[in-house]
Amino acid sequence: MSLGVVILAAGKGTRMRSALPKVLHPLAGRPLLHHVLDAAEAVGAARICVVFGHGGELVPSRLADADCVWVEQPERLGTGHAVQQALPALAEVGRVLVLYGDVPLIEAETLNRLIADSADTALGLLTMRLADPSGYGRIVRAPNGKVLRIVEQKDASEAERGITEVNTGIIVADRARLADWLGRVTNDNVQREYYLTDVIGLATSDGVDVVTAQPETLEEVAGINDRAQLAELERYYQRRVAECLMQRGTTIIDPARIDIRGTLECDRDVVLDVNLICEGRVRIGADSRIGPNCVLKDCEIGQGVEVLANSLIEGARVGPGARIGPFARLRPEADIGRDCHVGNFVEIKKSSIADGSKVNHLSYIGDADIGVGVNVGAGTITCNYDGANKHRTVIGDGAFIGSNSALVAPVAIGPGATIGAGSVIVHDAPPELLTVARGRQVTVEGWQRPLKK
Ligand code: UD1
Ligand code: CA
Repeated sequence: MSLGVVILAAGKGTRMRSALPKVLHPLAGRPLLHHVLDAAEAVGAARICVVFGHGGELVPSRLADADCVWVEQPERLGTGHAVQQALPALAEVGRVLVLYGDVPLIEAETLNRLIADSADTALGLLTMRLADPSGYGRIVRAPNGKVLRIVEQKDASEAERGITEVNTGIIVADRARLADWLGRVTNDNVQREYYLTDVIGLATSDGVDVVTAQPETLEEVAGINDRAQLAELERYYQRRVAECLMQRGTTIIDPARIDIRGTLECDRDVVLDVNLICEGRVRIGADSRIGPNCVLKDCEIGQGVEVLANSLIEGARVGPGARIGPFARLRPEADIGRDCHVGNFVEIKKSSIADGSKVNHLSYIGDADIGVGVNVGAGTITCNYDGANKHRTVIGDGAFIGSNSALVAPVAIGPGATIGAGSVIVHDAPPELLTVARGRQVTVEGWQRPLKK
């Protein structure tokens, strides 16, 4: 039977104290709602409908690429009312699963279990047991264990408040029956809201068996109301990602000090030192080591690479055996060859550096093609920008660029050429020869320092 998913995201998120709607706050670099959309897709939703709140237009516009239908709930009249708003958009589906935009870590596996366990009945409910159930809707069961109804904390009697099995909020129901039950829900309760949870009582009085399932962990169904809870779930999520990497053969020096915002794939025996941040898609080859305080974004690091402390690599490729940093910055389209060295305070952008070349200290290399076995001396700058356009610098194999040279592009340095230190090179330098472009050193005979009058 085809499945539709409703994601409730109309809450204001007052306790975030933010201009940003709550479901757009990031967890592991992606909006909370994005995580829930992923879960909905992972359970094979034929259609996803997100209910957003009045004034929350930023939500659909920020997630414009999401494959879902957006429905505005103009007034926040309760969870039952919210789900009802979504049903017209789900007219074609057989069953409806209700998820929450501020419950980001729900696992597809748990949802699949709930969906499968309740396949033979009209209503499935995800519940959990809590030592302290306060605030949650309580699951009221008959003496024989059958679910009877859910009572909200605010409407519960003293005895009902003692029940420790609570509602996670997540349900799966036959669409047509759900529509019927929701049509019969009233707001005759303490909060004057149309409760989704009232559907349970209506179902059981219609003779429907309510099947329950439980999540693997409580974090899966934890909702985020404030920034402290957001930070807590972030740490939980990161810990899980770290454990997964360690299980697959990566050494993580301190799994409490790593942040993966995207995907990180490591081959065997990679070592990650503390405070690594990965964003986007990052791949690291076998036996590579990443030093402390590095940021890796959308990049590919080869095998046996050493990235030393405080380096930043974005949109770049690093060949096997290379050594990068400390304090190196590789920017988009930096392509570093095998066994290259890129040292401290070196910035490389849109440049290819062929095998075995070295740029070890204090350099800017932009829009350049550097051959194999080139040595770029300390303080060398490619002057790639004339104020209007960018130009390329080409350096042939085996060239040696003396320290503190400025290579004014467009310019080419021939293979095997040597550039004298401190040169400003504005014309192409021929292969194999020494080119020097600086004032000649003179010593003035008989010169005397002026004396104070
Ligand atoms: C709800 C459940 C409670 C359960 C708890 C789990 C109801 C009546 N109660 O209580 O049994 O234990 O979740 O966290 O369902 N929302 C809308 N539109 C609305 C109202 C709510 O989109 O009109 C969204 C909110 O943004 C929020 C979610 O639904 O993400 C839950 O709503 P909330 O009012 O916070 O319900 P709880 O009191 O937490
Ligand atoms: Ca809540």
